[in-house]
Amino acid sequence: MPLLILNRPRLVRACPIIASNWLRLASPVCHQHPAPPPSTNPALTSPVSSSSTYIDTRHRRQLSSFPPHPSAPTTCSYSQTQPNPKPPSMAPVPATMKAIQVSKTGGIDVLDYKDVPVPTPKEGQVLVKNEFAGVNFIDTYFRSGLYKLNLPVILGSEAAGQVVSHHKDVTSFPVGTRVVYMDSQAYAQYTAVPASKLIAIPAGLTTEQAAAAFLQGLTAWTFIREAGNVQPGQWALVHAAAGGVGQLLVQMLRSLGAKVIGTASTQEKCDLAKKLGAEWTVSSRDDVVARVNEITGGHGVDAIFDGVGKATFDADLQMIALKGHLVSFGNASGPVPDFSILRLSDKNVTLLRPKVHGYVSERKDLEKYSAELFDKIISGQVKIAIHDIYPLKEVGRAHSDLESRKTKGKLLLSVE
Ligand SMILES: NC(=O)c1ccc[n+]([C@@H]2O[C@H](COP(=O)([O-])OP(=O)(O)OC[C@H]3O[C@@H](n4cnc5c(N)ncnc54)[C@H](OP(=O)(O)O)[C@@H]3O)[C@@H](O)[C@H]2O)c1
Repeated sequence: MPLLILNRPRLVRACPIIASNWLRLASPVCHQHPAPPPSTNPALTSPVSSSSTYIDTRHRRQLSSFPPHPSAPTTCSYSQTQPNPKPPSMAPVPATMKAIQVSKTGGIDVLDYKDVPVPTPKEGQVLVKNEFAGVNFIDTYFRSGLYKLNLPVILGSEAAGQVVSHHKDVTSFPVGTRVVYMDSQAYAQYTAVPASKLIAIPAGLTTEQAAAAFLQGLTAWTFIREAGNVQPGQWALVHAAAGGVGQLLVQMLRSLGAKVIGTASTQEKCDLAKKLGAEWTVSSRDDVVARVNEITGGHGVDAIFDGVGKATFDADLQMIALKGHLVSFGNASGPVPDFSILRLSDKNVTLLRPKVHGYVSERKDLEKYSAELFDKIISGQVKIAIHDIYPLKEVGRAHSDLESRKTKGKLLLSVE
């Protein structure tokens, strides 16, 4: 019988790294993740579907929902430790804070770790004390100047932490509520965020998990639901399948019953994509079009999810199936060059170039997709991998690792 237990005693993992619904790939051993404090306002907590399967026999837990890849282990062991800690009491908000600011565009040397004033929440805003900020490829585009911003600016596009104060007109999200959000200026100790962009973190997720899952998880899930039009049994191809968004796409597509092909640059990354649910993997250094043609028996792929951009777009048009959906959503190798729209007519291709924000700009969509995403994680259907956590002041190292294709999964900044 389906059973979901939240607010359980704290558990320590002793499991194979791939078996948990919470992974940190850079770590040689499983880490302890303290259970999150209960939400201070249950009414604000995102709903968690009661259909999730979560079996806990104290020392052994099994997470299941959709059939895992045969090579992926599905169980892990736990031992019991202390009960949940109480939420820490709020320290007074200081006048200044540490933040990562850029005053000119360029390489990682333009990322300044400096003291700046703590923002005052304006109308509709809440002040969040960030604990973890996500590092996303878009941050590198803003830093390099590929995407334009008015300078100087504090970088960052998502974070999770606790509410510490509000503008007087905001009555939601009481002080102490754990929240996650996608908004600018998140590489900082404090960020003033519109309340309309905040989502309360459900009791089954740590703040770290929420920060790691949010932007990339909403990207993967909304692009599948709204852009890819993927049906069970169809062919779906994910480029950079061992990357942050890529790993989530692979797992979600597999759970929908798609036949998933993943591409990646190394054998290690291909193996990881396979473990997560890509039944076929292709080295991006091989002739990808020829291999995909072979794998699909000449049909081509019905949906392509491409965050690589310049290096892969042309091949995408060659291997897309008749009436396929090509979702081009990033520039990891550079922006897609101009091309003739007539090329789409050969196979009646639907081409989309979406931004995640466009699918969650309405509050009802943000709430719906966030709840669905959290449910997938809490139920164990989707595993979130943290590549590494960097101190805020070492953001340059995080950008450099992400841009040099060294990473597998999410990069976080720890904001003390
Ligand atoms: N449109 C949106 O709303 C939206 C939202 C989130 C993310 N994105 C996009 O999604 C893409 C993936 O983001 P992510 O944060 O999850 O990054 P990521 O996939 O973890 O890292 C990028 C990966 O792209 C691949 N890659 C291929 N050529 C590359 C090159 N020349 N330089 C660097 N990487 C290259 C690498 O994988 P291999 O080594 O396996 O090739 C690399 O690991 C990015 O383009 C990002 O902008 C878009």
